[in-house]
Amino acid sequence: MKTVFKDKNIVLGVCGGIAAYKSVELLRLIQKAGANIKVIMTKNAQAFVGPLTFRALSGQPVCADLFEENDDASIRHIDWAEEADAVVIAPATANVIAKMANGIADDALSTFILAVTAPVLVCPSMNTHMYENRAVQRNIDALESDGYNIIEPGTGELACGISGAGRLPEPKFIFDRLVSSLLPNDFNGKKILVSAGPTQESIDPVRYISNPSSGKMGYAIARAAEHRGAEVTLISGPSNLADPLNVKVIRVISASEMAEAVFDKIDNSDIIIKTAAVSDYRPKEVAEHKIKKNKDEMVISLEKNTDILKEIGKRKGNRILIGFAAETQDLNENAQKKLDAKNLDIIVGNIVGDPSSGFGTDTNKVTFFHKDGKKESLPEMEKDEVAHALLDRISMAS
Ligand code: CTP
Repeated sequence: MKTVFKDKNIVLGVCGGIAAYKSVELLRLIQKAGANIKVIMTKNAQAFVGPLTFRALSGQPVCADLFEENDDASIRHIDWAEEADAVVIAPATANVIAKMANGIADDALSTFILAVTAPVLVCPSMNTHMYENRAVQRNIDALESDGYNIIEPGTGELACGISGAGRLPEPKFIFDRLVSSLLPNDFNGKKILVSAGPTQESIDPVRYISNPSSGKMGYAIARAAEHRGAEVTLISGPSNLADPLNVKVIRVISASEMAEAVFDKIDNSDIIIKTAAVSDYRPKEVAEHKIKKNKDEMVISLEKNTDILKEIGKRKGNRILIGFAAETQDLNENAQKKLDAKNLDIIVGNIVGDPSSGFGTDTNKVTFFHKDGKKESLPEMEKDEVAHALLDRISMAS
């Protein structure tokens, strides 16, 4: 996330709604990601959260009045509009939405918005009946057709006591949409299938064969592809990671289940990225009951699982196909062999055992082997940076 937000100027517009307190958490998330963040508040917002809270947390002056006397606030909103890489209005009240839909500029926030050319995310939050009111819906539609990104409110119990649509979505959800607005939309219209995590092959009802894959690399790719506009399906082996937002997640356990889920989706995919650490073998027989330790030695016979990627390679057509190779030795030779044998466009190789790469780490140090023989060794990076670097290569090739 650090690269997405590096040197980015984000402006948070806060309006007068009970959800204004959630904007404080949103500010923290954006700030933690490395962005410069500035806050503009309406007069009513200041009745819910004081400007000092935002000032102290952002380390920046808060713009709360068009005609403040203490400094150059009267032109601040124009400078901020020019510098902004993205703007989030959260919560956005019916009043501010109405002003935006009609080009009214009568305070610092509404004047600022008219001068912004960067993406603006609008997060409506209000009482359900207000939200469903025809005038409000008409104004929201107008904003949408003017190119604003509307983040639909959540449904649930509202501060006014009734239950329905109108809740400000959780800050982490708004943050996720903000990330997407800062990235190119180069995968718009593409269907991407990603597999991730380990598989588990049962020995008996309480034991299995597996590997330490956490799924982090595949989940990072799924998230990054969705942020760049793709329709993403993630087929995941057992993993503790939460489902990436707006991604269709299919959870499986064994290699056979993964194979079935992947094969089912091949025809409906433009790009297939297989990060999963699939078990190559499974026990020939699965004991019906827990195996007791009544022998000094024990042998488990294994049989081969289908090589999912190799099968996709045979049915590749003009899809883009990416594999991963985690090796402990001879990376170049092994990766090249798999690239050819599985009919891949790119194989992403890395050495496991290095503390900066491999199972469970947040970083990875990878080499991209391309089918035309080109080889690119990348420095150690966060897994989401590796994901974007891979998507950059795919974007160039497609
Ligand atoms: N893969 C797969 N199905 C399998 C085994 C591997 O789809 N049964 C895929 C992985 O998802 C990965 C690539 O093939 O993208 C390479 O996996 P890896 O385990 O490194 O290679 P193998 O082909 O299994 O070869 P080996 O275990 O002998 O190194």
